[in-house]
Amino acid sequence: MTRIILFTGKGGVGKTSISAATGLICAKEGKKTLIISTDPAHSLRDAFNLEIGSEPKKIAENLYLQEISVTEAIKKYWEKLKLYLTSLMRSQGVEGIAAEEIATLPGFDEASQLLYIRQYAIENTYDVIVMDTAPTGESLKLLSFPEAFSWYMERLFPISRKTAKIMRPFMKPLLGVPIPDDTVFASIEELYSQMRDVEEILSDGTRTTIRLVCNPDTMSFNETKRAYTYLLMYGYSVDAMVINKIFQDDSGDFLLKWRKSQNQIIEEIEDAFGDIKIFRLPMSDEEPTGIKKLENMGKKVYGDIKPWEILSDIEPPIEFEVTDKKKYIKMKVPFANKQNLTLHNRGGELVVQIDNWRRVFFLPQSMADLNPSTAEFNKGKLIIEMI
Ligand SMILES: Nc1ncnc2c1ncn2[C@@H]1O[C@H](COP(=O)(O)OP(=O)(O)O)[C@@H](O)[C@H]1O
Ligand SMILES: [Mg+2]
Repeated sequence: MTRIILFTGKGGVGKTSISAATGLICAKEGKKTLIISTDPAHSLRDAFNLEIGSEPKKIAENLYLQEISVTEAIKKYWEKLKLYLTSLMRSQGVEGIAAEEIATLPGFDEASQLLYIRQYAIENTYDVIVMDTAPTGESLKLLSFPEAFSWYMERLFPISRKTAKIMRPFMKPLLGVPIPDDTVFASIEELYSQMRDVEEILSDGTRTTIRLVCNPDTMSFNETKRAYTYLLMYGYSVDAMVINKIFQDDSGDFLLKWRKSQNQIIEEIEDAFGDIKIFRLPMSDEEPTGIKKLENMGKKVYGDIKPWEILSDIEPPIEFEVTDKKKYIKMKVPFANKQNLTLHNRGGELVVQIDNWRRVFFLPQSMADLNPSTAEFNKGKLIIEMI
């Protein structure tokens, strides 16, 4: 089973460098490893000082690099759907290139990237895949895509969760809109079932874990806390964090204030993230680029630890508890508070919203008709009583 490690964090904190470092160590230890960048800003090539293409390229024993190109991915995975959407746009009077542009639906980017991951995981092409992603907001969009996509598909089409088949007789043709032919339906169904695979692969904490990269400054720390909350809400397993760019004691008087505040924030991080593995990585005196320096960086991060191991206990993201008298839902959402949280039951689904991120959980039969009443936070867990 392919082990997938995804790095996320604020822009500039060191995701690309640490992804590269992690991949290098895995490859060196004999794991066939792919480092895949989903960030359109593709700095993986700069980290390695190498030209990298949109297909995996072997750069060392056991080590492959790939920078996904969304246009390539769309060509590879979505040609039919895109053709239909383009003809749909044209039928509505949208001309030429504009029709093609609009037919590139929001989410195509995310979906295309995920389809590569799915393919590699299913074909078992690599032992380890390290994902270097775009800054936090973008990677959250990527990770929330499969669920959001399934949700929309189930409402746009009478699609069956079990068989991924669209029940076509129920579809009414709209006036003047081209009726999609069988190949379009087949391509939608295929996409739906592929996204369900992706959901399964990425939310399986025995093979996919997320690692947070953070710098010891207030902005990065706050962003990391929010990201952690959302990731857990989506059911992802976060097993480690790297605190990067720590100034060392010998870094001179100029950085004195910085060192003081870094130390304080590191302490706060360790208090706040006590349940996951925390690595500390100093700021080095030169830019860590090229295989040699990145490998050194990897050694500094992991020491004797094997990067592909799962580095902390993973708890289920949501638990349903039924006692004699009461019914509870327990969710791990540290750092959330009641002000930014809303909950409701919408036809048998529990809708949880924290800030702008929403997750829908199917409620078990015993709770399908109940509503959330009180919600209490207890040690990073939200305990919802259903009545
Ligand atoms: N520990 C470190 N010491 C010194 N420079 C670092 C360290 N980690 C990252 N960098 C540098 O910081 C910059 C941003 O790192 P990068 O890995 O591209 O971050 P991200 O992918 O999160 O945007 C790069 O120039 C990188 O070489
Ligand atoms: Mg980067």
